[in-house]
Amino acid sequence: MKKTRAVITGVHGWVPDYILTNRELETMVDTNDEWIVTRTGIKERRILKGENKGTSIIGINAIKGLLKKTNTDPEDIDLIICATVTPDMPFPATANIIADGVGATKSYSFDISAACSGFLYALTIGSQFIETGMHKKVIIVGADKMSSIIDYQDRATCIIFGDGGGAVLLEPTTEEVGVMDSLLHSDGSGAPYLHMKAGGSRKPATTETIANREHYAFQEGSSVFKFAVTNMAEVSANIMMKNNLTASEVAWLVPHQANKRIIDATANRMGIGPDKVMLNIEKYGNTTAGTLPLCLWDYESQLKKGDNIILAAFGGGFTWGSVYLKWGYDPK
Ligand code: UT7
Repeated sequence: MKKTRAVITGVHGWVPDYILTNRELETMVDTNDEWIVTRTGIKERRILKGENKGTSIIGINAIKGLLKKTNTDPEDIDLIICATVTPDMPFPATANIIADGVGATKSYSFDISAACSGFLYALTIGSQFIETGMHKKVIIVGADKMSSIIDYQDRATCIIFGDGGGAVLLEPTTEEVGVMDSLLHSDGSGAPYLHMKAGGSRKPATTETIANREHYAFQEGSSVFKFAVTNMAEVSANIMMKNNLTASEVAWLVPHQANKRIIDATANRMGIGPDKVMLNIEKYGNTTAGTLPLCLWDYESQLKKGDNIILAAFGGGFTWGSVYLKWGYDPK
């Protein structure tokens, strides 16, 4: 009997309208467009403005678009997994709010917290439910409203992050396409380099934590940069080796969009030219769990059935990983 795999049968993204440019950041912190572009590759990022608007808005809009373009009835969805580090609230899960918002009344849903690798973790988990035959339609959404945890007085972090996300639909197939392999890693000893100090059970919110600006993402940029370059490059090379893939057989690298220099180092290690690397960091910045589905969405019209695609990410935790998939459909 042929193996059942999970294949992506549709992708859709969503970003808010407001564009925060490098020029506007120059008026907020001591930075400049040239520094940001040369050190990161980012020119602008999107910001979700307005009261009472959380990450669920991003997920709901992405999934509504996905359901429409794949002609899917929300009541046919079995499971929604949302990867995010900026949930609407500590509980309930943002995935629950998203499922309600899109009318997925027969599905259950939960969140995954794996920072920038969240989409890869969620994609791997969701695929298992399809491969085992337990579910027929699973939606994986990666979304973050990073502006809700960014200190716009801290030039080391506020220039990098943005808001946005995307969603994919997973369905079963017995063809030689879909999620082929996955390598996931985590190392909690990396927590000191990238974390949010307060607001969790270890240090609940107090007037003091607010005064100390401890409810924002803290990052020791250059340390994270070194770990990211080494691990994202290595895990991408490893998944190629494990699956006997040569550089010429890889159609696309889909890298987490944290820093153009990390992306270049990963592509170099894989022996892949820039024409095969998905890149949209210049317009969205780092949307954490949102970057990978946003890339797939932007490049969807260029993807062909059977394309070998390597997704790779590194982020807070530390978490990092790579997923190898064969694309499931030609441009529609
Ligand atoms: O997505 C999840 C994981 N995160 C990442 O992968 C991000 C990894 N880290 C990075 O991308 C980079 O480390 C940053 C973009 C955050 C920073 O770039 P860097 O080249 O590592 O800079 P740095 O932190 O080593 O700082 C170099 C200099 C410092 O000045 P001095 O001490 O040399 O005088 C900083 O104060 O650049 C200064 N600097 C800035 N200057 C202008 C830091 N941020 C800025 C800024 N504008 N926005």
